[in-house]
Amino acid sequence: MTDHTPTPRSEEPEDIQKRNFIKGLTAALLGFLTLGLSLPFVSYLIPASNEGADRKFIKVPNFSAIPVGKPTKMTFEDLDVQAFIRSQVVYDVWVIKHSDTQATVYSPLCPHLNCRYTFINNQFNCPCHGSLFDENGKVIGGPSPRPLDTLAYKIESGELYVQWKLFKAGIPQKVEA
Ligand code: FES
Repeated sequence: MTDHTPTPRSEEPEDIQKRNFIKGLTAALLGFLTLGLSLPFVSYLIPASNEGADRKFIKVPNFSAIPVGKPTKMTFEDLDVQAFIRSQVVYDVWVIKHSDTQATVYSPLCPHLNCRYTFINNQFNCPCHGSLFDENGKVIGGPSPRPLDTLAYKIESGELYVQWKLFKAGIPQKVEA
């Protein structure tokens, strides 16, 4: 009886080359995909470069232009580096200028649950749950468990520099987050 089963054709060197090329390409694509997907996770695990005890002072432009005694919301930018990801971040603070060399700088986040507050009718007013603070940052109404959080600052050659920090919300003590 004749055997009609097709005999497998022996692989040509070109076939082997093609197969190896496809294998290599697939491995490279998978590698890129894995790297791309894992970067955000890795960057989450590594703290931002401006965190830690040696946190720097960042310049807040236009200090000389703001009026004395009037709470003024000011913004500044800084480069945030998380692992391999670099991004420009805009921060805001409330500044009360007392003189060309003295100021009070408040974190813009309400100590209750971190909402941003505003300054209306000579009070700092949080829209989320109604906390009220006077210009000294003291709680005069609402659920905030502590006064507004001040930030460290320095003034050099008429320029204001602020040390940005986050604090834990919802507790009576001012504790860095
Ligand atoms: S977050 Fe400001 S009162 Fe709740």
